[in-house]
Amino acid sequence: MATDFLVAYATKHGTTGEVAEAVAEELTGLGLDVELRELRKVRDLAGYGAVVIGAPLYAGRWQKDARRFLKRHRKALAEHPVAVFALGPLKLTEEDVAGSRKQLDRALALAPDLRPATVEVFGGAIDPAKLRFPFSKMEATDARDWDAIRAWARSLPAELGGPLGQRDGDRPGVAVSDN
Ligand SMILES: Cc1cc2nc3c(=O)[nH]c(=O)nc-3n(C[C@H](O)[C@H](O)[C@H](O)COP(=O)(O)O)c2cc1C
Repeated sequence: MATDFLVAYATKHGTTGEVAEAVAEELTGLGLDVELRELRKVRDLAGYGAVVIGAPLYAGRWQKDARRFLKRHRKALAEHPVAVFALGPLKLTEEDVAGSRKQLDRALALAPDLRPATVEVFGGAIDPAKLRFPFSKMEATDARDWDAIRAWARSLPAELGGPLGQRDGDRPGVAVSDN
């Protein structure tokens, strides 16, 4: 049987991985079948109803596994409903979020066939203990807004449309079918 959602992510230091887990958890809570997988471990998109792609921004660019994923799965992604998120800004000021969004948009512009139903930037987080000098001198921060992340995740079935948005509320996990 097809899996409703693939939540595919890249993470260098774990914080995007935790967001991807929360997204998958919310979708599972809605009664959907969800697979959570690292982007570089995804071989094939056949068998997934919709795809969520999440990766952090580093030095002005969307993490390379995400850029590669868009290239490698270009054809299949054009045939799937897709949602995209990036982690980045360490402060949630309008200016910082817009700056990160520009970086993400530059990566998405390289995949013109991709038409994501929704694109979101979430605040990022830094644990300097995990970083090498000079980044190890950065201040510890966590700008992840878990309420916003979880609300976005819950909006995905409706945003991505199709049968995924029309579940029978009384029977979680069971697709409504005319057959
Ligand atoms: C060295 C370094 C460079 C970064 N560069 C950017 C950047 O250019 N744009 C941005 O929005 N966030 C940037 N960030 C913030 C990261 O995207 C954020 O810390 C994110 O949560 C990291 O995700 P990960 O733990 O999954 O690797 C940078 C962080 C570090 C440590």
